[in-house]
Amino acid sequence: MILLRPTEVDDLSYVVAAEQHDDNNAFIIAWTYDQHRGALFGTDLAHLIVEDESDKPVGFIILAGLESPHQNIEFRRLVITEKAKGYGQEAIQQVQRFAFTRLSAHRLWLDVKESNRRARYIYEKLGFREEGVLRECLKNGEQFESLVVMSILSHEYYQQPA
Ligand SMILES: CC(C)(COP(=O)(O)OP(=O)(O)OC[C@H]1O[C@@H](n2cnc3c(N)ncnc32)[C@H](O)[C@@H]1OP(=O)(O)O)[C@@H](O)C(=O)NCCC(=O)NCCS
Repeated sequence: MILLRPTEVDDLSYVVAAEQHDDNNAFIIAWTYDQHRGALFGTDLAHLIVEDESDKPVGFIILAGLESPHQNIEFRRLVITEKAKGYGQEAIQQVQRFAFTRLSAHRLWLDVKESNRRARYIYEKLGFREEGVLRECLKNGEQFESLVVMSILSHEYYQQPA
């Protein structure tokens, strides 16, 4: 069982270390401490800590587009540091509930590296559909990487089996 709560300034050393860890940094585009700090106070963004039952941080989430007139919420980041315990899937389900029931989202979307099989698997398992591929849009050293855009619409969320 996990809980999402707003990130505080004191959490940022955990957030930055999690992002820079070898287990995670290949899958995301890491922010600086100042970028994360700025995101805590932006009204268009939600920066959230994922906590386990003993209130220990086990991950973090960033959502963007909260003020979008199009009711499109971007699931911008998900990092789980205690892996393979089901926390990632639980966190995604809580984000879906928050986006569709509290923020009245019409569409919840994200992009994920094409090579990130684990993340793509759980997004698809939880109802996200692939929209297309941004081919070789990221340069990583001498390699180019592609991003897959995925989304779930409000009616698809509500049609999912409980
Ligand atoms: C991706 C991430 C959020 C998943 O969180 P997690 O808590 O480890 O994941 P869970 O334990 O909830 O679920 C893992 C699932 O992936 C499956 N899986 C693991 N490795 C896999 C792989 N290489 N290919 C496909 N599926 C895989 C597991 O079998 C499990 O599925 P199941 O429950 O149906 O058996 C986490 O590992 C992470 O932070 N990764 C690095 C950052 C990242 O990739 N973020 C997402 C960027 S879009």
